[in-house]
Amino acid sequence: MKRTLLLLACGIAAGAAPADEVLVGKFERARELLIDDFEVDSYSNWIVEGDAFGDGPAAGTLPNQQDVSGYRGRRLVNSYRSGDVTTGSLTSPEFEVRRPFIAFLIGGGRHEGQTGIELRIGGKAVRTATGHDSEELEWSSWDVTEFKGQTATLRIFDSATGGWGHINVDHIVQSDVAPKRFDLEHRLAEYRKSPDYLNEPHRLQYHFSPEVNWMNDPNGLVYHNGEYHLFYQFNPAGIIWGHMSWGHAVSRDLLHWEHLPLAIPEEDGIMAFSGCCVVDHHNSSGFGTTENPPMVAVYTGHGHDKQVQNLAYSTDNGRTWTKYADNPVLDLNERDFRDPNVFWHEPTQRWVMVVSLANEKILILYGSNDLKQWTELSRFGPAGVKDKPNWECPDLFELPVENENSRRLWVLEVDMGNGAIAGGSGGEYFVGHFDGTRFEAIQDSRWVDFGRDFYAPVSWKNIPESDGRHLWIGWFNNWETCLLPTSPWRSEMSIPRALTLRRIGDADEYIMVQRPVDELKSLRGSRLQIAPMSLTDSQKPVFATLAGNSYELQLELTPTAAASGVRVCVGDGEFTEIGYDRARSAVYVDRTLSGNTDFDARFSGRHEAPVPLSDEKVALRILVDRSSVEVFIDDGRAAISDRIFPSQTSTGIELFARDGSATFSDMKAWPLRSVWHDR
Ligand code: FRU
Repeated sequence: MKRTLLLLACGIAAGAAPADEVLVGKFERARELLIDDFEVDSYSNWIVEGDAFGDGPAAGTLPNQQDVSGYRGRRLVNSYRSGDVTTGSLTSPEFEVRRPFIAFLIGGGRHEGQTGIELRIGGKAVRTATGHDSEELEWSSWDVTEFKGQTATLRIFDSATGGWGHINVDHIVQSDVAPKRFDLEHRLAEYRKSPDYLNEPHRLQYHFSPEVNWMNDPNGLVYHNGEYHLFYQFNPAGIIWGHMSWGHAVSRDLLHWEHLPLAIPEEDGIMAFSGCCVVDHHNSSGFGTTENPPMVAVYTGHGHDKQVQNLAYSTDNGRTWTKYADNPVLDLNERDFRDPNVFWHEPTQRWVMVVSLANEKILILYGSNDLKQWTELSRFGPAGVKDKPNWECPDLFELPVENENSRRLWVLEVDMGNGAIAGGSGGEYFVGHFDGTRFEAIQDSRWVDFGRDFYAPVSWKNIPESDGRHLWIGWFNNWETCLLPTSPWRSEMSIPRALTLRRIGDADEYIMVQRPVDELKSLRGSRLQIAPMSLTDSQKPVFATLAGNSYELQLELTPTAAASGVRVCVGDGEFTEIGYDRARSAVYVDRTLSGNTDFDARFSGRHEAPVPLSDEKVALRILVDRSSVEVFIDDGRAAISDRIFPSQTSTGIELFARDGSATFSDMKAWPLRSVWHDR
């Protein structure tokens, strides 16, 4: 479905009044005619049939309906009167087609021919549109150039009676301009005035989120001229997945992010799917100069029934982007060929790309001298966890082994859209060798994160040698339960993490260690120390409340009880339990009673990471941020990342031991300052 520019309403009913000229973006002016904005409580001269539409436009959501959003002003057409069972239609007065486009907001059921809106000319429907099984209205439009000067009517209809048997429509205009992302600017401008700006009850306070709309995978992570860039899969048109484009933010400390305008938009029916960004220091691509090396984004173009690899470049620190005129640079005529990840391989002096034939679970490695011409080097897979549906978003990088001088090994990380350890989507990684041509695993794959909400992580490129860390970030969500109960934005990123490898036991066996970046310490308020204690079959509050539920907690646990640990976000009947399960030798996060879990039947549950005790102890480092927990176990040897949606009043913290006793020591906590409101 397409987006359109939305211009300020100016005319009155049925295109009668002259249009005002309005500014629709930085440099464009356009004129539009309002057909109807449905802002009054009657349908005026529209003809109403049946009972689905009631007597007039609805003032928003109707009884028993999921939240309706994305409409303009206070009212909209909503055929959910008395639920989905009712049927009917609305027919507009006649009007003359005077602009090349008719644009409108539409939501509700996707039942072609049964729930929708049509343009009628000469007794026939000549254009039609339907909803998208979502209560969020999105822009849609028709090119009606060929009907200019003709008399038309609009008919909004609902003859469906089952699930999603209703239609929502609002703000119908005749417009001069093709669909664009004007509405995002309007939405942002409105949102920036909101008293809740970046401060809604579930808005994470020290993790990245877009101001408004839908986000998924991190893309194009790169450090350049003092800034960490974070691009991300973003829908400029709404709060569900669609119209994928690259959103953009920059930071100097990986924590305080400045939201920037859209970097790479969907265009001509081709979405900008996931990919990476490199700094082309030698200007091998010719897109910049050696004095001002270009940033080059390599991303998947998705559209017209296939996925190809494209380039875009920037010579102004990522502020503006140009799509390469000779795109695509890789086209196998494949429908599922995506998520290129490119790095400079110093020993062979060339660019290497790893990209996924997603449904075949095959990664192809390519080499290039100029980022434009690519030659296949080798293939990897299928491998790893068996029988899982696909592989997406690969990343290939070298990591140091902790405490082994300069020993380094390669890691190949890849994500599966479903069937991961905690259910739904998640990642696995292989440790091995890469010789510039071929990756070879030296051990079985392992899970990246044992929670449900850490997906498609990719690492930052071009981190200065003087820093030397290997950093990444993941999407703090799960495709299976991705429609989190937040608005006007949806989804956030994990805390940025620094990676290393750690040898386990004496064998040649390694795990990837993830630790929150040290910068996080700069957000700490004053330290709260908790005296060591033992508990037997009991629980004990340690703080009634802690800084609006954005904090860090560390403790060492000797878990002799069947289960013991800490509960966070404790309130009336609510808590999220983080504990050690002795029988299963595992650390777990149980979010069954964490708060709102009803928005998806698969959300509630418990997720565990197998962790053998060392010296009868386990160390937990827990990050809580309003609607999230990230647990780092034994200095990063395993992580569990989960979203939770507690009540605002559930701010307690308590220790517990069940069926036996447990000792808690080395307990510290710090409130963490908001990166949005406490600069
Ligand atoms: C993974 C993914 C990618 C794709 C992107 C589209 O989450 O499916 O494979 O590029 O999302 O938004």
